[in-house]
Amino acid sequence: MKKLIVGNWKNNLSLKDSLVLAKNYAKVFRASSGAVVACPSTWALVSVKKILGVSVKLGAQDVGHQERGAHTGDIDAKSLAEIGCTYVIIGHSERRAQGESSAQINLKLKAILKEPKLTPIICIGESWSLYQAKKSKTFVTTQIKQTLAGLNLGTRQIIIAYEPIWAIGTGKAMVASEAQIMHAFIKTEAKKVLGAKTRLMVLYGGSVNGSNSQTYLKKTDIDGLLVGGASLKIQEFKKIANIR
Ligand code: PGA
Repeated sequence: MKKLIVGNWKNNLSLKDSLVLAKNYAKVFRASSGAVVACPSTWALVSVKKILGVSVKLGAQDVGHQERGAHTGDIDAKSLAEIGCTYVIIGHSERRAQGESSAQINLKLKAILKEPKLTPIICIGESWSLYQAKKSKTFVTTQIKQTLAGLNLGTRQIIIAYEPIWAIGTGKAMVASEAQIMHAFIKTEAKKVLGAKTRLMVLYGGSVNGSNSQTYLKKTDIDGLLVGGASLKIQEFKKIANIR
């Protein structure tokens, strides 16, 4: 299985800077079709898509759970698919911190799965205090049970991004050997909920950079990376994706 590298640009860039970065992605990743995903701000998706072409996949950073209709301010899954998104991040800890619950994320996941062209990237991960108290496994198990409840996946692929909250944007990445243990655990727990045959990938996220990326990518159960800050710097992101 090809490892997946996802750049989460968050809401960091202006439109002008998003387009410049998209041009650089298109140029650098021309030959790596399919394994790199760019997730710009929602308002930049359409413009960025035109520049990325087919070499880099397009992802959104969130979706509303309701279908197209009278829902002011919402973004619906069908429209994301129509504008060319193939991935949607949901449940990022920065959104959970604003009050988004696992029950809401579950509804968003179901909305994504109604669109055949969309693959969800569901974020989970524990806080520093839970990590210190050695409760990471118990906590992510609850998140898995709540966010993945009641799905009928069939052959659809599902992606979980394991992002310890304390590692996000802090420069304090979880060491790869420990991340590997968590990933193997997450796969086992997710398959208990979804079924053993589920097409599941688990990505690591949290302070990934050009110097530590390969330590994660060498691990058996780390199927790729969700990258924040370092995805904004093309040279760093190129190193992460191991393009020379
Ligand atoms: P970071 O962010 O790489 O800047 O730590 C990761 C994320 O939030 O997805």
